[in-house]
Amino acid sequence: MTSLIRAITHTSTAVLFVAGLAVAGQAAAAELTKNQQEGKDIAFSKSEGNCLACHSIANGALPGNIGPALIAMKIRFPNKEDLFKIVWDPREKFGRGVIMPPFGDHKILTKEQIEKVVDYLYTL
Ligand code: HEC
Repeated sequence: MTSLIRAITHTSTAVLFVAGLAVAGQAAAAELTKNQQEGKDIAFSKSEGNCLACHSIANGALPGNIGPALIAMKIRFPNKEDLFKIVWDPREKFGRGVIMPPFGDHKILTKEQIEKVVDYLYTL
């Protein structure tokens, strides 16, 4: 009896493990839409967003840690507009002394570029 229970638990652990691998595989293979990919390129580019200079972002090499890690964005910012506003001009939320540049207000990025960056942030 105990060995039967042990066999069952072992089997279900193995099944869970395989299922976990499948889910992880799916996440890794998740394709970005055209807009999300362009947003990622802008965020990672040293001459455009350069968000990696200050934020750690999944799969981004050599990130800085001046700002918080950009993770779980959709859960933390259920209203996409709030996220757009932070990238457009973080001074509104964080005050005048914030280190992050006001990408929209200072015309570093266009409205369309920031929308794409926000589309990408929502995948993180
Ligand atoms: C020069 C450094 C710097 C750069 C470059 C920068 N940020 Fe930031 N960012 C910050 C700092 C610092 C904060 C935190 C402000 C605070 O909490 O007072 C922040 C906050 C944020 C937040 C709010 C996060 C949260 O958890 O509250 C978002 C979203 C964000 N940045 C996105 C971006 C994006 C997207 C880019 C690139 C387009 C970018 N940042 C570029 C420094 C930077």
